[in-house]
Amino acid sequence: MRTPVVAGNWKMHLTREEAAGLTRDIKEKVGGEENVKVILCPPFTALDGIVGECRGSNIQVGAQNMHWEDEGAFTGEISPLMLKDIGCKYVILGHSERRHVFGETDEDVNKKLLSAVRHNIRPILCVGETLEQREEGVTDTTCREQLEKGLEGLSQENAENIIIAYEPVWAIGTGKSASAKDAEHVNNYIRIILSGIFSKAAELIPILYGGSVKPDNIDELMAQPNIDGVLVGGASLNGDSFTEIIRKSALKTS
Ligand code: PGA
Repeated sequence: MRTPVVAGNWKMHLTREEAAGLTRDIKEKVGGEENVKVILCPPFTALDGIVGECRGSNIQVGAQNMHWEDEGAFTGEISPLMLKDIGCKYVILGHSERRHVFGETDEDVNKKLLSAVRHNIRPILCVGETLEQREEGVTDTTCREQLEKGLEGLSQENAENIIIAYEPVWAIGTGKSASAKDAEHVNNYIRIILSGIFSKAAELIPILYGGSVKPDNIDELMAQPNIDGVLVGGASLNGDSFTEIIRKSALKTS
């Protein structure tokens, strides 16, 4: 059985104080939940403080991006060593905003992913099609290409340490979630691709769905066999809605 995962992507929101307040609220409400893995992904400036806030609870902390090099002349970038230094255990990689707003390629994402696992930081690799690609009928092939390129060179042994998130670009921040049936179709397809690459490890890799996840669509999404959790943007900025999503997701194992 895969433990459900609920990750909150706070994007470019919240000052350190606001992030700490939200974390305390989440910790109070669900910090002791054992049937779900909760990962908070604040902006870089709040990471250190949030790692401190989460100490002693079951809540884990992730970054939203990183560079693949350990150090060097890369103005504005953050390295895996820096993330490790503050106790950050996860990193979101290949988020559609990184790909589409900042021009990240599958090759960049792959370098980041290999670097993260080398440093024992668990990557949450995001894949997903644009509206145009969905309308062209190339959703599956788009996801397959992003997966195959993003995971190139990853060993069988390290495959167990990754998380995949299927996030259709048209569903992110739009209030228009994919239907549970469509999301399950792609997540199942992703599982098939993963089995082709990693055989047994594919059963252990959590595959999340992301894109306008809210308290009122979480039950239906989590009822799908290949949706092992969710990556939540907007609704993770509100303590009540995020903890409701966490509680409802935890029911999948209990
Ligand atoms: P959303 O964002 O929940 O606001 O659609 C999801 C994401 O970008 O990870």
